[in-house]
Amino acid sequence: MKGVILAGGLGTRLFPLTKITNKHLLPVYDQPMIYYPIRTLVNAGIDDIMIVTGGRKSGDFLSLLGNGKDFGLKHLNYTYQEGEGGIAEALGLAEHWAKGDSVAVVLGDNLIERNIRTAVDNFRQQRKGAKIMLKEVHDPERFGVAYMDGDRVVEIIEKPKNPKSNKAVIGIYMYDGRVWDIIKTLKPSDRGELEITDVNNWYIQDGTMTAEVLEGWWTDAGTFESLHGAAKLVAEGGANRLD
Ligand code: G1P
Repeated sequence: MKGVILAGGLGTRLFPLTKITNKHLLPVYDQPMIYYPIRTLVNAGIDDIMIVTGGRKSGDFLSLLGNGKDFGLKHLNYTYQEGEGGIAEALGLAEHWAKGDSVAVVLGDNLIERNIRTAVDNFRQQRKGAKIMLKEVHDPERFGVAYMDGDRVVEIIEKPKNPKSNKAVIGIYMYDGRVWDIIKTLKPSDRGELEITDVNNWYIQDGTMTAEVLEGWWTDAGTFESLHGAAKLVAEGGANRLD
């Protein structure tokens, strides 16, 4: 299984911090934001990693990360997303590299406290389909929200105005090798992007989506409030525990 980190976009919600640089190069407490999703994958045993970058100062990822030696890696792969075509479009840029393999995808601004190794192992045994991870939040309207029937996700609504559930779909996704063809069928949403939620709803319709509740804290860091909150969580308890 391969790992993909999505670190493109213009980071407009963090303007002017992102006026001259890529959001994922900004600090979260004592480390650049991109360090956290790399650790999320490496701690879960995934060491074949592609970083999809884009926007401003994308060359700085190479200067900062090189071949990933700081994370115990021998090599890192990079690709570049032009414009703001969305998360699913960014993922599609990894197709030629993944060569039909399954992937674990982490959004570059998502930080977690604990290790997702068990979920990754469970997905490996699942063999087919996809897996998402859920977390209860107090502001579900900011996220993709999962509607459940018992343990089963029946639908995901992207940023609903009146959410009927408080289960956010966090930015960690696992897909089988069909994901590349699914992305090609997507149409841009109202915000003009190919939405990862449409990919997830495809797997729900297919009956091959599983979901797990994430243990420990989770946050994104794409707004001033969440970036500040993320720094506090890291400073107080640390991110990316090994267990
Ligand atoms: C994206 C996804 C959303 C998900 C969130 C997690 O939102 O579209 O479904 O819940 O990441 O951080 P975005 O940050 O692109 O608005």
